[in-house]
Amino acid sequence: MSLLHIDNLHTVFDTAAGTIRAVDGVSLTLEPGQIVGLVGESGSGKSITGFSVLGLLDPPGRVAEGRILFKGRDLASLSPREFRALRGDRIAMIFQDPMMTLNPVLSIGTQMVETVQAHRKVSKAEARARARDALGRVGIPRPEERLAAYPHEFSGGMRQRVAIAMALLHEPDLIIADEPTTALDVTIQAQILSVVQGLVADMGMALIWISHDLGVVAGLADRIAVMYAGRIVEEGATDDVLDRPRHPYTAGLVASTPLANDRGQPLRQIRGTAPSPLNRPAGCAFAPRCDHATEVCGQEPGETAQGDRRWRCFHPLGGQA
Ligand SMILES: Nc1ncnc2c1ncn2[C@@H]1O[C@H](COP(=O)(O)OP(=O)(O)OP(=O)(O)O)[C@@H](O)[C@H]1O
Ligand SMILES: [Mg+2]
Repeated sequence: MSLLHIDNLHTVFDTAAGTIRAVDGVSLTLEPGQIVGLVGESGSGKSITGFSVLGLLDPPGRVAEGRILFKGRDLASLSPREFRALRGDRIAMIFQDPMMTLNPVLSIGTQMVETVQAHRKVSKAEARARARDALGRVGIPRPEERLAAYPHEFSGGMRQRVAIAMALLHEPDLIIADEPTTALDVTIQAQILSVVQGLVADMGMALIWISHDLGVVAGLADRIAVMYAGRIVEEGATDDVLDRPRHPYTAGLVASTPLANDRGQPLRQIRGTAPSPLNRPAGCAFAPRCDHATEVCGQEPGETAQGDRRWRCFHPLGGQA
């Protein structure tokens, strides 16, 4: 049984201007311990996919179609209370802004102890020991002392580490990290990536790392899923996707990203911009920006699977589909 199985997820926002199809038929499967990088331009539906899994959609956002199974359990069947119990315990989220996780008016120790005791029947001393260990694991120096500090007393990078420590408190089976390093400078970003990578390997957690930056996920993820206009247009093993992109959008992303293995290659931006979710072209949403598009692309491309690789394109690169 897979850890997470998202099957044909449609998440919509009913607005006065019309229905926004933020996630438009996403399917994704994660095995225990697997790291998937979910990449794509702004507005492609990455965060809303994550929020849908965590049951964190705010109205008017709603799952209109599809199923999300976690360890075989349909998440739609959970009561709000069961969902809260699952969230933060078996599934945790790390946000771009650590203050989505942290309370500014409580010390780190107080909120970590509260979090532990909300999910586990343990003494305060035990909860505190867990909190201290969690801070130590993410590389916070002098963790025992730092428990007394408030969020604003940490630097941006250290604050994100604290938020990560909170997310890892119960050694969840799945972490969804939504651009947690985007706001940080490159050096700090690299440090946090390596901390998370180490922890995931040690603890055997599965991870969905959301990023608009292919370069960030290239060194981290086992698999890459590329989103465009609410759909996964290509998915496969990281090296395979980066070395042999089949979808022209993926190829465009690769060509516009400085990757470790192609030093010296001139970078090329993808022309045009992503369509408005209120006004997506019929058929392949990427066609208006695609050098390979033909008349057939006015129709919806189905999914082609080859081995553990899949894509949605009438004109895949690198050979016949
Ligand atoms: N509360 C909302 N109301 C209406 N539309 C929304 C809402 N939240 C998100 N959307 C729309 O859903 C689509 C997907 O948004 P999402 O936040 O998932 O994109 P993303 O891929 O995470 O982008 P980014 O890289 O900018 O974070 C976007 O078109 C966005 O405008
Ligand atoms: Mg987002």
